[in-house]
Amino acid sequence: MVTEMFSEEIWKRISEKAGGDDVYVAMDPYPDEQTLKLVMAASDVLEMEPADVLKAFGKWWIGFAGTEYKSLLDMAGSTSSEFMSNVNEIHARVGHLMPELKPPNFRVEELETGSFDDHLPSVFELHYFSTRDGLFPMVHGMLEGVADSCGEDVLIEHLVHSSEGNERDIYRVSVTKKKNR
Ligand code: HEM
Repeated sequence: MVTEMFSEEIWKRISEKAGGDDVYVAMDPYPDEQTLKLVMAASDVLEMEPADVLKAFGKWWIGFAGTEYKSLLDMAGSTSSEFMSNVNEIHARVGHLMPELKPPNFRVEELETGSFDDHLPSVFELHYFSTRDGLFPMVHGMLEGVADSCGEDVLIEHLVHSSEGNERDIYRVSVTKKKNR
């Protein structure tokens, strides 16, 4: 994301600050501590809040995965709720290639089915369970990226926070089809 949105030079500054190598090998596992160091270093160098770095990364990742892992994402669905209902299955498939994977778990609860023709929103609750703390802004960005790729406008409310001692994060997600599609 950094080399695409900024430059190689900025990536070098971030990776140096994070104290690792500037080359990471795709599909190799790295400790979570290194990921967090990269987020904090990006936050310093780009002068963005760490939560905004994670949010931007989440949104960017959906577009990247859409080309890089096209075959996996193509089966996910054409609406945000359908798509998010299939992410556990996507991670299960990724898990065949990466035995160390500790993926999150998502649950979708439909609240209102909406009517795209009448521009009534479709509303669902997304429950996000993770073994890790602090990645919830990334999920927010991912939801924006998923809605975008489904041609939807999205409103996201973070109703329940794992950072307040709850076992999961819960988002209320309202989507409408973009008018020009
Ligand atoms: C082909 C597409 C995808 C691939 C290859 C993929 C792969 C991965 C990998 C490798 C991790 C790190 C987990 C670990 O190392 O233990 C991860 C984590 C994660 N993924 Fe995916 N993923 C994909 C799609 C998605 C989508 C579509 C979403 C949600 C919209 C999503 C949400 C997450 C979240 C939130 C995490 C953070 C881990 C946590 O909360 O503990 N992923 N994914």
